[in-house]
Amino acid sequence: MKSIIIYESTHHGNTKKIVDAITQKHNAEAVSIENAESVELSGYDMVGLAAGIAFGKFYKRMEEFAAKIPSGKQAFLLYTCGNPSGGYVKSITKTLESNGVKVMGSYGCRGYDTYGPFKLVGGIAKGHPTEEEIDGAVAFYNKISGRE
Ligand SMILES: Cc1cc2nc3c(=O)[nH]c(=O)nc-3n(C[C@H](O)[C@H](O)[C@H](O)COP(=O)(O)O)c2cc1C
Repeated sequence: MKSIIIYESTHHGNTKKIVDAITQKHNAEAVSIENAESVELSGYDMVGLAAGIAFGKFYKRMEEFAAKIPSGKQAFLLYTCGNPSGGYVKSITKTLESNGVKVMGSYGCRGYDTYGPFKLVGGIAKGHPTEEEIDGAVAFYNKISGRE
């Protein structure tokens, strides 16, 4: 099972931390969203989409990229967010599934957030993702890639 992770982690590099942990442990490939257009997705069985959350969804660029994944591929989702409230994968999952892409699972955890008014109070979810949350992302990847 050959897989690649496309990531967008512009706020504090929170999502990149979980992507890095996965690529370091598994020799998996990862490419930033800026370079995603040059990736030949036909060469991969499974595509991971990893991003921070903005306004209740994956970052806009990632939501748009999801629509370009070829039908028949498998996908998985990784995200970090300031305030886990559920439903953050809903929109991107709908885009993927309506294009015939099978979503194998998702993993999300908290990530340091200084957006808007939170900046005034020093941010929320400081110290996240924690080591434990990062390990959780690796365990999730193990599971969906069939290593466990
Ligand atoms: C413009 C903007 C909007 C955000 N909206 C949300 C949101 O709706 N829900 C949430 O839980 N976190 C929200 N956040 C917090 C980020 O999702 C969180 O800090 C995330 O870990 C950032 O990931 P990154 O460092 O990989 O970019 C927002 C952050 C920014 C900058």
